[in-house]
Amino acid sequence: MFVTVLLLLVTLCAQGGNGLERAEAQRSGHVSVVIVGGTGDLAKKYLWQGFFQLYVNQVRSGNSFSFYGGGLSPADAATPVLFEILKAVSCSKDVAPERCALLKEQFLRLARYRQLKTLEDYRDLAEHIERELQQEGMTEAGRLFYLSLPAFAYVDVADKINNSCRPTGGAWLRVVLEKPFGHDFRSAQELATQLGSSLKDEEMYRIDHYLGKQVVAKILPFRVENRKFLDPIWNKHHIERVEIVMKETLDVKGRISFYDQYGVIRDVLQNHLTEVMTLLTMRLPMNLSSSEEVLQKKLQVFSSMLPLRKNQAVVGQYQAYQTTVQQETNKTKGHVSLTPTFAAVLAHIDEAQYEGVPVLMISGKMLDERVGYARILFKNDIFCLQNPSGVHCKPKQIVFYFGHGSLQYPAILVSKNLFRPVSMDGDWKEVTEHTEVNILGLPISDYYVQTPTEQKEAYSQLISHILAGRKNSFISAENLLASWALWTPLLDSLAGSHPRIYPGGADNGDLLDIRVNGKDIGYNSEVVIISPEQMGGASANSFQVMQGKFRSADMVSAWAEELMERLAADIQEAAEAAVREGGVFHLAISGGSTPLALFHRLALHHFSFPWSHTHVWMVDERCVPLTDLESNFHGLHDHLLQHVRIPYFNIHPMPVQLNQRLCVEEDGGAPLYEKEISKSVNGSSFHFVLLGVGYDSHTASLFPGSKVGELGESLVALTESPVKPHQRMSLTFSAINRARAVALLVMGKGKHELITQLSRVKDDPDKWPVTGVKPADGRLVWYIDYDALLG
Ligand code: BG6
Repeated sequence: MFVTVLLLLVTLCAQGGNGLERAEAQRSGHVSVVIVGGTGDLAKKYLWQGFFQLYVNQVRSGNSFSFYGGGLSPADAATPVLFEILKAVSCSKDVAPERCALLKEQFLRLARYRQLKTLEDYRDLAEHIERELQQEGMTEAGRLFYLSLPAFAYVDVADKINNSCRPTGGAWLRVVLEKPFGHDFRSAQELATQLGSSLKDEEMYRIDHYLGKQVVAKILPFRVENRKFLDPIWNKHHIERVEIVMKETLDVKGRISFYDQYGVIRDVLQNHLTEVMTLLTMRLPMNLSSSEEVLQKKLQVFSSMLPLRKNQAVVGQYQAYQTTVQQETNKTKGHVSLTPTFAAVLAHIDEAQYEGVPVLMISGKMLDERVGYARILFKNDIFCLQNPSGVHCKPKQIVFYFGHGSLQYPAILVSKNLFRPVSMDGDWKEVTEHTEVNILGLPISDYYVQTPTEQKEAYSQLISHILAGRKNSFISAENLLASWALWTPLLDSLAGSHPRIYPGGADNGDLLDIRVNGKDIGYNSEVVIISPEQMGGASANSFQVMQGKFRSADMVSAWAEELMERLAADIQEAAEAAVREGGVFHLAISGGSTPLALFHRLALHHFSFPWSHTHVWMVDERCVPLTDLESNFHGLHDHLLQHVRIPYFNIHPMPVQLNQRLCVEEDGGAPLYEKEISKSVNGSSFHFVLLGVGYDSHTASLFPGSKVGELGESLVALTESPVKPHQRMSLTFSAINRARAVALLVMGKGKHELITQLSRVKDDPDKWPVTGVKPADGRLVWYIDYDALLG
């Protein structure tokens, strides 16, 4: 039984759509709404409220409705759950309480739960709808299926609807889908093809709830209404940059299984922020009501976008994310997720109008505030005589303020130094009473402010557009694929990049500030650097060499060449001091390619180095013959030892080959080396240990996850590397941390992400072995070149 509420007025305000869409949209009759996943989270939070709103607005329209909440559970279990949700719907302020109560009662009577699991269930539903239509003598207007389901279920459900639940007799079918629509171009294409075998494109309504936000929906009308002001300035000569920002304070607890596969770029930038970007930059359509024209003009933006390259993005991850991943998935302790929870991307549009204008898209979880806006910041060449401190006096800007943040309502703000905007739309009003709030550098009294007369929920707006068949508020298959074509190469190039770790909330400080440098962007502040002034006068010895702190130890930083000069000088100074004190200098050296430049410097510039009193030890060795090119000793010999006058007896390669075999525990190579150290080195305390750090943060041959912290008191151990040759012999933390001085040398752009990460992580030698380097009585100094430090 349907409650038929007859219409007084039929027009469905179908602003959008072509002739066919409009005709369909306006066909009145009975509408069956089916929310598949009707007791789920989204349905509970937004959808039922949206459909109730629709019902309230449509009561006088001539349509009648029935509502079904569908789900996998049997009806007896799910019906009470559904009704609990339905009872919570509410009316807008302008509806009198008695009328609201009546409408709610009607709505509840129109709604019911149906189990929708098998093809049979869908067939039963179709039969039920047809039977009721017949009994009531109603014409069917259409069927609206809202798939509030995980994306993997779409194809199957679409197939079932197509096979057994399509309306007949010219009534429409509309199927609403929520993102994710794939996770890259290929998967989106695949999904589109699969859905296309059940549904026609015009039957699919892909939701991006941002398009339902009142301010977002107003961008195009605003641009049209204010054309006479905007036409002269909406171009590269006047626009400094465009920013589209969505900041959130929440974390992603409870959503990890989805989020970890997805990350912020797929979750927010590829869809919400991209949609806003296209609305801001697309050519204005002749007819705003034409869905076809609007979607076509949007599509053109994609074809003018310059490809996004890796250095046009920075990514971050809030610190607690890893723990949540571990808690919510079955990943092992050592698993490291690189999924970004923050991203800033710089895009450019290759069109004469916008050439060179930076378009920034930024979003993140666990930031300092919840706010969403798009800002067009204009160039400003005004000199303010009485305001010398502000370089540009007051900013000239237009802000589309989506909501949240310090302004409690959505609004369009135009700084008063631009123009006074017009609005032909009776649904918007100008705000003239201002509170003490500041929006993006300007007190609100410095703006002309427009706000909707009544705030409406995005989902309610979109639901009414679905019924009206206004397709321009939805994502077409072509636009979806164009967006993925833009984002997929960037996502691919970022795979494997280490996100910058940020603490979350206000503590992020300036850590996530972005710097635009031509076509590239980067983080503005790199690792924490304490200036010489802050260090209390400990100054640099040359303007190219800087001293600071890194992981609360001392740090020396410079360009590679100056850094080598400095490190070589520091080693010589340590050598001379040790020889003065005890007649001998014990130096333990690492292998790898990083120290080669140092070896050259020592060999070619340090002729007064006390080599004759120096003993050279190995920090670690690969289990290959010493004559092998891969042997650390081989490298040291070739690049240093053979060029200096060092007694043969002072050289101590590691005994990796004994009894004509390599690193066999029973051969006792490690204890042998340990014995040699104990015998020759006073207290087994090297005067100087030179270490490097690998990309996985291993140091010496102490690798992540291999329980390197548990080697106890032994000084030398056999270890395993994840890369070939796997077997290694290495000094342990026990040996390293007895040293008087330890230098950690890190060089090259490739180590930048590592350094950034190390600047944030806590000590955890199992995960980040280098954090286990903590000389007990000695001094640790990081030598980091600018490439590694600044990227
Ligand atoms: C959703 C994202 O699409 O948008 C969420 O999946 C995000 O991660 C949300 O929190 C933000 O929407 P709003 O309307 O609160 O800005």
